[in-house]
Amino acid sequence: METRPGSAQPKSADMSDTEMLHFHAALSQAAGQVETVMDALLPQPETRIMEAMRYAALSGGKRMRAFLVMESCTIYRVPEKQAARIASAVEFIHAYSLVHDDLPCMDDDDLRRGKPTVHVKWDEATAVLVGDALQTLAFETLTAPQTAPDANTRLRLIRSLAQASGSMGMVGGQGFDIEAERASAQLSVEDITELQSLKTGQLFRWSAEVGPVVANLDPSPMAEYARALGLAFQVWDDVLDVEGDPAKAGKRLRKDASAGKATFVALLGLAGAKQHANALVDLAIAALDRFGSPAENLRRAARFSINREG
Ligand code: IPE
Ligand code: IPE
Ligand code: MG
Ligand code: MG
Ligand code: MG
Repeated sequence: METRPGSAQPKSADMSDTEMLHFHAALSQAAGQVETVMDALLPQPETRIMEAMRYAALSGGKRMRAFLVMESCTIYRVPEKQAARIASAVEFIHAYSLVHDDLPCMDDDDLRRGKPTVHVKWDEATAVLVGDALQTLAFETLTAPQTAPDANTRLRLIRSLAQASGSMGMVGGQGFDIEAERASAQLSVEDITELQSLKTGQLFRWSAEVGPVVANLDPSPMAEYARALGLAFQVWDDVLDVEGDPAKAGKRLRKDASAGKATFVALLGLAGAKQHANALVDLAIAALDRFGSPAENLRRAARFSINREG
């Protein structure tokens, strides 16, 4: 097995070129499927807001959350058409979170997915409204019978997505992230873990739990996997901020330290953060033991989360 430069021996999270190819093939297949559905669900670009919604939701993005939904649904035998609508909903929420995350009052970024951010290409008011409208589109998508024929299932999806996105979920984590920038003392490992499991982890968890939630089965094994994966994913985002290539990341890097962001890199240094991310990936993979080979793509997703360059 080939290993990353500088690593003396293979770690369980290392990925061979072949494995990376398999993962990219599966990811782009899921992304294509979900993007077709997103395209159909988004309004035609009749107004400025509608045009900017399509731009924010459809131009680029790895579609990791969509991938988790699709894989979770495969394992739990949820029909693909339903899965793709549910995956669209979480990608709309994620796209909204990025549009707002980039605003001048938040992280103040002018580049996202390799293109100008919505408030730069249009203006701030448009970016705020685009985020709002993508969020409502996510919930509207979940209300339709094509998403799940059973109304109770739809209600469970809507309620859980609202919780994962709101003040006790992603928004709560974003609030914590901004507050931490202004705090005088450095956050502890526990605090940063809490912050990141809210701002990034909750949407990952929701996505991975869709299969068991729709099948009305216990979601805890998927939750255990996604909790570790979501954290590893955000720790790696923070590592890339320090040593990534902006052209590959498609966004501005080298900003977290000067903004005073609370990250594992700030607390543990690069090597410590990488070690932490590796341990999280091991945990994520261990949580999948009971699923056997149908979970191979989810294991690859975990390794990818800390082998990616963007
Ligand atoms: C970026 O998420 C924000 C974080 C939670 C780190 P992604 O890295 O999944 O962004 P896209 O969707 O691929 O652009
Ligand atoms: C954002 O985290 C997480 C969200 C909930 C949007 P970051 O602020 O680190 O994400 P990037 O680096 O801008 O993509
Ligand atoms: Mg941010
Ligand atoms: Mg940001
Ligand atoms: Mg970041």
